[in-house]
Amino acid sequence: MDQTRAPYFQALLDYVDAGVIPFHTPGHKQGIGMDQAFREFVGDNIASIDLTPMPGIDDLLQPTDSILEAQQLAAEAYGAQRTYFLINGSTSGNQCMMMAAANPGDLVAVPRNSHKSLLGSLVMSGARPVYMQPDVDESLHMDHTVSPQTVQRTLDEHPGLKAVYIVSPTYYGIAADLESLVRIVHERDKILMVDEAWGPHFHFHPDLPLSATAAGADMCINSTHKMLSSFSQTAMLHQQGDRVRVDRLEAVLKLFLSTSPNLPMVASLDVARRQMATEGPALLSRTIDLANETRRRLNQIPGVYCFGEELQGTNGVFDLDPTKITITVKDLGYTGYEASEILRRRYNVQVELADLFNVVALFTIGTSQEAAERLILGVSELAREDRAVDIFSPSGVLQRRLKTGTYKLPKTPPMRMLPRDAFLADTEPVRFKSSKGRICAEVITPYPPGIPVISPGEEITKEIIDYLDLEIKAGVRMQGPFDKDLKMIRVVKEKTPSLSGEAPAAPA
Ligand SMILES: Cc1ncc(COP(=O)(O)O)c(C=O)c1O
Repeated sequence: MDQTRAPYFQALLDYVDAGVIPFHTPGHKQGIGMDQAFREFVGDNIASIDLTPMPGIDDLLQPTDSILEAQQLAAEAYGAQRTYFLINGSTSGNQCMMMAAANPGDLVAVPRNSHKSLLGSLVMSGARPVYMQPDVDESLHMDHTVSPQTVQRTLDEHPGLKAVYIVSPTYYGIAADLESLVRIVHERDKILMVDEAWGPHFHFHPDLPLSATAAGADMCINSTHKMLSSFSQTAMLHQQGDRVRVDRLEAVLKLFLSTSPNLPMVASLDVARRQMATEGPALLSRTIDLANETRRRLNQIPGVYCFGEELQGTNGVFDLDPTKITITVKDLGYTGYEASEILRRRYNVQVELADLFNVVALFTIGTSQEAAERLILGVSELAREDRAVDIFSPSGVLQRRLKTGTYKLPKTPPMRMLPRDAFLADTEPVRFKSSKGRICAEVITPYPPGIPVISPGEEITKEIIDYLDLEIKAGVRMQGPFDKDLKMIRVVKEKTPSLSGEAPAAPA
């Protein structure tokens, strides 16, 4: 196919050129009816292609023309059999993959450190999760990926599994051994789904980890907006092989799609694919070099550590995405949250993610040398400062918790009900600190990275209460609970019958 074409973008341009008089949605009529200040700011061009499916403009729900071609071009570029454009992020990608692969009650192996959208997919599909423990790095305070051995063991222990779901890479850019995972899962003729939200660029450069499509995953998702150049909310779902029922997948996609997709967003996927297919290797080479050089210079700053190739081959780390720089600041006496705030307030630098020990800076094809210099300046100034209160000092609260061992990534709590059953059950609010032993009815997620500490159906343990208490003290923003300060939590009312009537699977 001709990868220099962007057929869907072209169809929108042709419509604008034709000067059609619009008696159709959207109501702003190519910008004319828009709020003036907004129109002046965003410009007429984007408003002029914010249209609706009609003759000459293909329909994302039933593509037959330019969107069909754009998706086929994307499939070819990614080495997939079929590619589908998504306009509600990898969030909807996770939901669609699970709904396509599993029926209510089907067992699906999933890592416990999945993004919270996986939980949505379990609630919607009614699949029964068998949680797999990813390898944990205590010193960096982060979960890595699930190892092939863990997947093998899970398949041995649960021969009835319908599918395996993997997250690779992680938010921090750690990639799993996808080739081995594909082999292990396909030996048993099960479906392998990969949440590759953070790896839409992998397929286009040999120095990046192997992409899920190249490894042979049955389905995978890419947040094209995260690491490539399409608009926010856009993503792609790739499929290959004959283990997934394509008619079912396509029916599910239609169920989840708005009947009024935002066409500039869809066009931005078309051109992001063209950009990667035609210029990807060159653009990514520059990005990788810039990120590697920045990492090297950051590592020269006393007290700062940015992990790199030395981690490769350790537990849960098969490969690394060099375009993500995790800056570990704990030896500077700061939490990642504090460092992130200072970098923003004093140096006008905004990182992607902060956690207790780290901040993460994303380098993409849009990152300039000047931006990298500013990051290095900000971090070196941060390192030079005298800390008045060192949160990790011997008298500091975190240090005490670290020493007494009460501060650790908490173990996965026991699952007492299916996520769907607990989510839909009758609930009541109770004081969070006194909720030990109750079944959680909400998902509680420090954001970012968006990985739930506790999910619906899980028992609230003392360890979970202590850990969340500490994260709140450290200033982390919680997503999910009805009480954002987490003074109260929603739990399943006692003696609630389980909807499915099924006992949950024991965690692997
Ligand atoms: C691993 C993972 N999967 C899925 C998602 C959801 O992606 P999106 O924001 O494109 O909906 C995220 C978002 O951060 C994520 O980190």
